Amino acid sequence: MIARVVELLLTAEIFNRHENLTEDDIPKEIRKIFYTNGGLKRPLVVKENILKGFVEYDEKELRKLPFVDVNSFNRQIKITSFDVAVKWMLKNGFDLIKKNPVLAYFYESYDSTGVSYEEAKKYSKPRYSDSEWLKGIIDELTKDESTAEMLGLVRIFSPEDLDDDLSKVVLDDEQLKEIRKIEIAIEEREWLRDVGLREIGKLLFIGPPGTGKTTTARHLSKKLLLPLVEVKLSMITSQFLGETSKNIEKVFEIAKRLSPCILFIDEFDYVAKTRTSDEHAAVKRAVNTLLKSIDEINLIDHGVLLISATNHPSLLDSAVWRRFDKIVEFPEPSEEVRKRIFEITLEKIPGDYRIDELVRMTEGFTGAEVKLVVREAVLSALMEGRKELTMDDLVKAVEDVRERITLKNSY
Ligand SMILES: Nc1ncnc2c1ncn2[C@@H]1O[C@H](COP(=O)(O)OP(=O)(O)OP(=O)(O)O)[C@@H](O)[C@H]1O
Ligand SMILES: [Mg+2]
Repeated sequence: MIARVVELLLTAEIFNRHENLTEDDIPKEIRKIFYTNGGLKRPLVVKENILKGFVEYDEKELRKLPFVDVNSFNRQIKITSFDVAVKWMLKNGFDLIKKNPVLAYFYESYDSTGVSYEEAKKYSKPRYSDSEWLKGIIDELTKDESTAEMLGLVRIFSPEDLDDDLSKVVLDDEQLKEIRKIEIAIEEREWLRDVGLREIGKLLFIGPPGTGKTTTARHLSKKLLLPLVEVKLSMITSQFLGETSKNIEKVFEIAKRLSPCILFIDEFDYVAKTRTSDEHAAVKRAVNTLLKSIDEINLIDHGVLLISATNHPSLLDSAVWRRFDKIVEFPEPSEEVRKRIFEITLEKIPGDYRIDELVRMTEGFTGAEVKLVVREAVLSALMEGRKELTMDDLVKAVEDVRERITLKNSY
């Protein structure tokens, strides 16, 4: 489509002319092409390979355009007459202008086109939600030896690459309310900074295993379009003196580099646990480093949303608790929550079963265990060559899982 080619050329041209336009104003598909071709730097230069990566087009058609020049030596493609290009685009690519913030920014004050930058912005996602953007940053960090080693400590996800199923995590009203507050805080970041409220955006998720803490952190990444930096404290704890402290600092450093992002610290009690068993100076130092790092990072100034999770909140002392502005509880799910997890998990599975009864039978089961029931039931049906569930399959599975829970609790 030749209009898309002109869209890209004009986007680059207008972006280069207006310093106040940011990467976030460039539509994702265009941004992506520049990232994968050596990063997005001003001025944007369009070469043939960039166009080819963007859209299929007829080269003859391109050469026919009176305002385009293809340099046969370096394959750079340029607009030779901006005014003519602008008019051509208005006539041939109006729909593209409406959804492209860079173009809309220009056309908003050009004739009476009725195009609005604000409207166009609604179509575009921020750059940090692109997996290509994240890859670009990670590549940069890999090049430098001192930062490359930091990357080994964490897992980094782009919201684009996280599973869509995450939206299926079932949360109760209290949990949803806390999440909504964080969304609003992110939207109103500037204002909160202006009024001096910085101590926002540090959450502690507490609850037994399998109640959805990790899933919720990932879901938030997807929902807020923020990259997710995941780290387990047990993984960065080292028996070498001072190493743990250094690792903690590095992890926070990565989060700041990837900002805006979510830093998810799992097994948060791990350091506290070692503290009670071993009053070693290095452990104390690690705890202090952790506390200090938490103090020195915030959502408002650094764009880092900190989420910590633990199964053992009782191991955390008051110095730790005090640092979180929100404690979100993940209790064993209520009947209502279990019911919804059953409904969602069974959604595509045909059969004859009564969810209400299953809900009553699974008192005390976590979300993970409810899902396990369904998985077990499906497997035993498959073993008998059936792709439809019976109530019997599910009841037996409930009993199996219950046995497992009893076994687990007896150790
Ligand atoms: N409320 C829930 N809604 C939907 N699925 C849930 C819920 N709670 C748990 N699950 C499912 O159980 C599994 C385990 O959940 P998850 O890993 O998030 O638990 P966790 O609280 O992080 O556990 P741990 O403390 O062991 O890390 C996932 O497959 C998740 O989808
Ligand atoms: Mg977890």
